Amino acid sequence: MSSPDHSDSPSRRSFVKEAAAVVAGGIVALVPAAAGLFAWLDPLRRKQGAAGFVKVGTLDALPADSIPRKFAVLADHVDAWTKSPQVPVGAIYLRRLKDREVVALHSICPHAGCFVDYRDTAKDFFCPCHNSTFAQDGSINDPKSPSPRGMDTMEVELRGNEIWVRFQNFAAGHKEKRPVA
Ligand code: FES
Repeated sequence: MSSPDHSDSPSRRSFVKEAAAVVAGGIVALVPAAAGLFAWLDPLRRKQGAAGFVKVGTLDALPADSIPRKFAVLADHVDAWTKSPQVPVGAIYLRRLKDREVVALHSICPHAGCFVDYRDTAKDFFCPCHNSTFAQDGSINDPKSPSPRGMDTMEVELRGNEIWVRFQNFAAGHKEKRPVA
């Protein structure tokens, strides 16, 4: 005696059709929702873009005597959904070696992230947190300095009289420069 086969019954066919309709409807509803979410998060994606050049000063403000001078770095700050023009984002030291040769050094100590001071009398850089010292060119001055590397350099571009720097932060505590977003 065999049991009746209900595999192709009208109720089962109807259930499969309804389930398929629900899945298809879900997909149709999800696609625009995902696109909307993507667009909504777009400012967050743009915020993580590559570091660009910022104008830091002019050659008139930097004598060609190779002595480091500190400059504030201002840039447009793009928050998730707002844009604030020209806010301080860091500080750098610039040295003008020749008429059109400028070097940029980050003011953050590569040891643990404190601010580095330039000492006019000693003609060196000094980090007060753990006493790292750096030569005028940013290299490690004292072998006993705890900093694992010299001060971080950044790319400089002279556009006429203007000094532009590819401002970038780097992770502290490593022997090599590791850019951070
Ligand atoms: S943070 Fe500069 S020496 Fe430690």
